[in-house]
Amino acid sequence: MKFFVDTANLDQIKEAASLGIIDGVTTNPSLIAKEGIIGTEAILRHYETICGLVDGDVSAEVIATDFETMVREGETLAAIHPRIVVKVPITKEGLKAISYFSKKGIRTNCTLIFSPGQALLAAKAGASYVSPFMGRLDDISQEGIELIRSLREIFDNYAFETEILAASARSPLHIVQCARIGADVVTCPLSSLLALLNHPLTQVGLEKFLSDYARSQEQAEKTYPRV
Ligand code: G3P
Repeated sequence: MKFFVDTANLDQIKEAASLGIIDGVTTNPSLIAKEGIIGTEAILRHYETICGLVDGDVSAEVIATDFETMVREGETLAAIHPRIVVKVPITKEGLKAISYFSKKGIRTNCTLIFSPGQALLAAKAGASYVSPFMGRLDDISQEGIELIRSLREIFDNYAFETEILAASARSPLHIVQCARIGADVVTCPLSSLLALLNHPLTQVGLEKFLSDYARSQEQAEKTYPRV
């Protein structure tokens, strides 16, 4: 299973990369806006910087909603770096753009997927990744994880090469559930990945190891004082 970090924040991307477990980065227009980056040139440079920080794929989203402009924007994004994946929303125009990019050898991530039918269309159009938004389904009291399960079943039925990139994952539980189902990738904030480290018994166990060791050293110092 691949781990992508879902942020445009360079410090978080650097920290994630330093862990040695990060396979890529996903961004979206909201995450870019959050970093206060203004203007097309600055945004393109930001994506280039991100590509320099991680070894894996970096999703960069088009802003346009019509086919022609999506194609223009996507080609500009793809020209930044070979590891850029053009993120395109699941609309009729988006589907046409994914199909166009696929024929041109430009990799795509079809975003804003909330139903198996949308993912099926994106896979048929040749998307490299589909991004089902599990957290946002949970937000409206639908089981986001069930969408991941359906996509795994459908994609396996037909051996689609499109990878399931479980997005809008916001908790350690989401990550583990995705792993059990066999999502190809999960993207989430760095905090959710770091939360996987935590277990109370690990904390208690480590404290005990360290205090036992310190006590034995003190005892040894008393028994065999250094001269
Ligand atoms: O990058 C898309 C997705 O991961 C957004 O997540 O938390 O805004 O629903 P969220």
